[in-house]
Parts: sequence; C-alpha cells; structure tokens
Amino acid sequence: MVDPFEDERLAALYDTINGWDASDEFYLRLVMSASSVLDVGCGTGTLLAAARATGHTGRLCGLDPADGMLDQARRRDDVEWVRGTLGSTAFADEFDLVVMTGHVFQIFLTDDEVRAQFAGVRRALTGGGRFAFETRNPAVRGWERWNPANATEITDEEGNRVVVAHEVESVVDGVVRFSETFTGPWEEPRVGWASLRFLPAPELDELLRDSGFRVDERYGWWDRSAFAEDSREIITVARPR
Ligand SMILES: C[S@@+](CC[C@H](N)C(=O)[O-])C[C@H]1O[C@@H](n2cnc3c(N)ncnc32)[C@H](O)[C@@H]1O
Repeated sequence: MVDPFEDERLAALYDTINGWDASDEFYLRLVMSASSVLDVGCGTGTLLAAARATGHTGRLCGLDPADGMLDQARRRDDVEWVRGTLGSTAFADEFDLVVMTGHVFQIFLTDDEVRAQFAGVRRALTGGGRFAFETRNPAVRGWERWNPANATEITDEEGNRVVVAHEVESVVDGVVRFSETFTGPWEEPRVGWASLRFLPAPELDELLRDSGFRVDERYGWWDRSAFAEDSREIITVARPR
C-alpha cells in the first residue's frame, strides 16, 4: 500500500492527472484579489505558483503535510511552503484569504475534525478575511463513477503509460472508502487507500455557523452558477461573523 501524496513517483504524476481546470481559474481569481493567502492542503502548489506567475506580489503560503507533494511545490522558491497542518502550525490573524481546494475538505471525516479545521482557519484569518473551499455534493453520488471502467490513462514525463483506477469498497454514513490503483512502468501496481466524507450543504452550514462563519457566497459549479440540489459541487466563500 502506498500514500500517493508521499510516494515521490506518484506525487510527480499528480499535476498530469489533475490538469489545470475551471476550479483553478475560480480560485486564482480569488487569490489575485487578496494580499495574503494561505492554501491549506496546497499539494504540488499549482494554484499559488500560478498566482505568483500571474503577478501576485503579496504573501503566498502553501501548507501541506506530505513531503512528496511539497517536493514538487518547492521547485518554485518565490512562494512560502510549509510542511504541516493547521493543527501543527500557529498562524494567527495574518491571511486575508484561506483556501482549501481539490476537495481537501473531504479528508476530515468527523464533525470534530471539521470543527478543528474551521477553528484553525478562523485563527489564521484577519478579521475581514475570507475562507473559500468546496466539497462534492452527496446528492449526486459522484462515487458511483469511481470504478475501473472509468479509469484514466496518462503519460508521465518519461513517456510511460500510467493507468489510474478507482474502486469503492464501502459507503457508510457519508464516508466513502476507496482504493486508487496506479499501473505503470513498475513491477507491481501501486495501491493507495483513502476515505472521503460527503457532507450535505445544510450540515456543512451548521458546522460553519457553529464555528463562527457566515456563508457569503455559495455556488454549484465553477462558473459561479447558483447551488441547486443536483449541483456536483458545494462551493463556499465564508467570512468570520
Ligand atoms: C487531493 S490533494 C489536493 C491538493 C491541492 N489542493 C490541489 O487542489 O491540487 C489533497 C492534499 O491534502 C493534503 N492533506 C492531507 N491531510 C491534510 C491535512 N490534515 N491538512 C492539510 N492538508 C492535508 C495531502 O497531502 C494532499 O496534498
């Protein structure tokens, strides 16, 4: 079993598998309008690297616990990269935007874990700051498409073919446990396991409210279309109350 975020070779494939898309455009616009930004779970750092390359002159800080991903991010040295989590760092009153992109929010599997993250985000934000993140809408049951029939095939930097396939093992109380299998130019396929939580919008909003946030903007897709029951995403921009 491997952790795809720590495994050097798989982390190097991350950007090829997850190309720049409409979600990155959405967040880049927010980042460019803020003077100091914390990206929680920044991964390979694509968003902040793009912001710097686009001319952002303020503070850009990417936070992630996985060295595999940060090794990719560190190829750019004009952004601050910090290894850790909101729980292991003490950011306080210093960012006017905190983002959590690429469904990082779904890593937190219990209400207590979510509350701890929200408390950390609140602490890191300045009074008038904003917090933007997204989570997949459980109503559309996106995990039903996570099966080997929908595997993706990519070509790595050396021209090798790599197939990435997902398979769901269980769905219990909104937590989906699944495997991610990478078949490539190595002897055995590399298999990682993960669990992600799918939280309905009303429950999300209650946790935000309890944590001292108010929802300022809510979208169902990256074109800023309004959230509806059958939206694929629950995209939130919140502010401390
Ligand atoms: C799916 S990737 C998303 C990366 C990036 N935000 C993006 O959109 O490409 C999830 C990232 O969350 C990180 N992660 C895992 N646990 C975390 C935690 N407790 N706090 C912050 N990041 C975490 C992983 O190391 C990984 O880089």
